[in-house]
Amino acid sequence: MSHDAPGHAKADLSHIYDCPDPRAYFDTLGELDYDIPQRAQPVVQALLKARSRPDTAEPTRVLDVCCSYGINAALLRCEVTLAHMYERYASTPAEVTSAQLAESDAEFYAGRLREAPARVVGLDIAEQAVGYGCRVGLLDRGWAEDLEAGDPSPALSDELTRTDLILTTGGVGYVTERTFDRLLAPPRQGPKPWVAAWVLRMFPYDEISAVLAKHGLRTEQLHGTSFPQRRFANDRERDVALREIAARGLDTTGLESDGRYSTCTCTCPDPRPTSSRSRCASCSATLRRRPERTAAGVRAAAPRVCAWPRWVSPARWAGCGRCCCTGPVRS
Ligand SMILES: C[S@@+](CC[C@H](N)C(=O)[O-])C[C@H]1O[C@@H](n2cnc3c(N)ncnc32)[C@H](O)[C@@H]1O
Repeated sequence: MSHDAPGHAKADLSHIYDCPDPRAYFDTLGELDYDIPQRAQPVVQALLKARSRPDTAEPTRVLDVCCSYGINAALLRCEVTLAHMYERYASTPAEVTSAQLAESDAEFYAGRLREAPARVVGLDIAEQAVGYGCRVGLLDRGWAEDLEAGDPSPALSDELTRTDLILTTGGVGYVTERTFDRLLAPPRQGPKPWVAAWVLRMFPYDEISAVLAKHGLRTEQLHGTSFPQRRFANDRERDVALREIAARGLDTTGLESDGRYSTCTCTCPDPRPTSSRSRCASCSATLRRRPERTAAGVRAAAPRVCAWPRWVSPARWAGCGRCCCTGPVRS
């Protein structure tokens, strides 16, 4: 990251990203009250429900970008909270080896697996972290690849053709539009994956959303809501972040001004509504034509297209009548 790039003053935490086990990660980020994976969960769960495929026994397929040790996977797949995880790793005696911890974690998470958990795979440049997530069974598969630098391997490309939801917390800034472009490049037959990204407000998302648009996805921002990520590590981080965010014309009152990095979320369903589209962009169900009252009587309205889950803004959306995902009314 160049000296002038947004986020250049962020504390360097790279020493905790690729360790043989997650203790240093939880230790350091616990001190900073890092909790974006937990904050993101209600949205992720809603999106997961929206992307579920009731017509098949197949689990929904999630790719966690910048997955680290499999933290989002743990929250998605197991009955655990981030608080449980902080507590668990803080109370693990120092003499427990990484191999012993992995063995105990495998048992711990397996015993808390949710019914019909999603398939969660991970991508991160940190080989040991991804390896740990796989070893303890949080990640169904993981790839230590850098899509900023090159194309995905054949195995990852194959996975990408079947991914339903791409998720990232704490990742944008490390990954840019280059990674997203490569994630969406492999040709696929079914609907495009949705993308949910929790992005620090100092990082513009325009270039990523432009790339997503190129792949037929439109970014919608969850207005009026922000998600605290963590406390600033020091005064310099805070001062520079406040400056960078203000320079983007955003109000920091009640958010970064109170001492915490904040994120907003964006998702990118394929919302292109056309009168010729007859399938829900999310679940592929046939879109229902809703009866509409006009002066001339009742007639079928144009098909509606699915985008956000209904809970986001109930007044604005109409559904396909089959999945819980719904879309902006554009008749
Ligand atoms: C702040 S951590 C976020 C981890 C996790 N998503 C979470 O919220 O707890 C940032 C992660 O980005 C990863 N990362 C950095 N550069 C990357 C790249 N080019 N491609 C994939 N992952 C990268 C780091 O290894 C690290 O695991």
